[in-house]
Amino acid sequence: MELSARSELWAFALFCHVGILVSLESFTLKGSDSAVIATVGTDVILPCHLSPRTSAKQMEVRWHSNEIPGLTHHYVNGQDAPQKQNPHYRGRTELFKEELSNGNVSLLLKRVQVADGGSYVCFIGNKLNYLEGLVELTVGAVGTGPTISVHRSQDQAVTLTCSSEGWYPEPAVLWTDMHGQRQNSTVSSVKDVQGLHNVQSHVDVKDNKNQVLMCQLQSSFWDQTRQSALQLSSDLFPYDKHPYVVTTVIFCLLFINLGVVTGFIFKRERESKGKLQVAKELLKAKNSAVQIRLDPKTAHPNLHISSDFLHVNHTDQKQEVTDTPERFDGWACVLGSEILRAEKEYYWEVHVGNKTDWDLGVTNGKANRKGWQDLKPENGYWGIRFFNNTDYIAFVESPVKLRLGKQPEVVGVHLDGKAQRLNFYDVSETSHIYTFRLKSSLDVYPYFSPGLNKNGKNKDPLKLRFLSPGYCHLMSSNSIPSSPTS
Ligand SMILES: *[C@@H]1O[C@H](CO)[C@@H](O)[C@H](O)[C@H]1NC(C)=O
Ligand SMILES: *[C@@H]1O[C@H](CO)[C@@H](O)[C@H](O)[C@H]1NC(C)=O
Repeated sequence: MELSARSELWAFALFCHVGILVSLESFTLKGSDSAVIATVGTDVILPCHLSPRTSAKQMEVRWHSNEIPGLTHHYVNGQDAPQKQNPHYRGRTELFKEELSNGNVSLLLKRVQVADGGSYVCFIGNKLNYLEGLVELTVGAVGTGPTISVHRSQDQAVTLTCSSEGWYPEPAVLWTDMHGQRQNSTVSSVKDVQGLHNVQSHVDVKDNKNQVLMCQLQSSFWDQTRQSALQLSSDLFPYDKHPYVVTTVIFCLLFINLGVVTGFIFKRERESKGKLQVAKELLKAKNSAVQIRLDPKTAHPNLHISSDFLHVNHTDQKQEVTDTPERFDGWACVLGSEILRAEKEYYWEVHVGNKTDWDLGVTNGKANRKGWQDLKPENGYWGIRFFNNTDYIAFVESPVKLRLGKQPEVVGVHLDGKAQRLNFYDVSETSHIYTFRLKSSLDVYPYFSPGLNKNGKNKDPLKLRFLSPGYCHLMSSNSIPSSPTS
């Protein structure tokens, strides 16, 4: 009996020790499918948790924002690590420490600001692998109930001014009379230091006696309206010879329908191009098609490379390979074997099929290949990632969420060294995915990550497509490239 108790103790001790090396592959990291809504000045929880539940205490946890570089929050070696946190978030973020053991890595963001809005990526990693989840935070603010003031100029013209402060985004302003008839008005808006809009709207009033005018501010994001109405006294108008006596009745009506959110349009700086334009670009790009092969010397130990060096997939089996500086040991990545020279043009295609996760891009030869540093330009990586079968991000400073209509089957990558651009295309849909502007021309290597195998859900290989430089001519003459000699 004692023996078995002791062995249990041992097993427990062992479990605690190797607990950090729990393979994350059978887990998913869930962010939030719908945007999290927060009002400026309040605290908000950005949800993210491991499923099924397992402790994240010994894992590295990172939160990034797409708008603000650096980290939003960093937790590593069992504690918060503020060194890489952007000062914008200083003192405003917290993980729920007691929840970490349940795999709950939700982030508390305090005193929300306008600038906090955007996409957030939560990341969990250990020595073996990593997971990511996405949360969209939408920030808004409904301003003060409007006040209406009355001005009469020297020439006796009467102007009403409706003022309200603290809106985000900018509200629509509408003036109506008692019959609901719209009135012509002008609007001006200034932003305060916090990015909130202070709005003023003017309307000129003519003769109408005993008229009621209503100023209504409608949030373009929140389903909320604030309005004030003013009853004008006939005393106000010049043909009444009375002195300037304003007898006005101001009544404030606030209609607040809390919590109901109307459509919100995400605007991203993406170039939208017509199909014809993209088709032309692709045709041109294909003139610089190159046959890229994978370089097994750089491959993460869990990657399996086909014998023709064209396919790569992630396996649960770690291969017996030496850990050299050129080999990836964090991200499941592999490089192409040929260096791509600055000032030159290259094009390659990758069949991603139905994979749920992948990364494609280029990296300079000097970039660090160890650990989990972000694959972003600052670290010598320019690329896009598809993950959780739903989310596309481009790593610019920090991740930018891309919205593609359809999941591409074949991705075309066009490195235009002269123009210093790296273009990604959905070849199957003839659409443009994203373009990176490269700051300087550098020699680079293409990189590929098939993502983790995720219990077979993402087991298919990434396949480099065979493309010969004459490809587009063959295609346009409708013949099939049967043999490379033709
Ligand atoms: C994670 O923790 C937060 C804070 O306690 C809580 O609001 C949230 O519901 C938790 N999420 C899950 C999935 O348990
Ligand atoms: C509003 O402005 C338009 C054009 O400037 C004008 O045609 C219209 O009569 C104006 N309406 C009112 C109620 O003043």
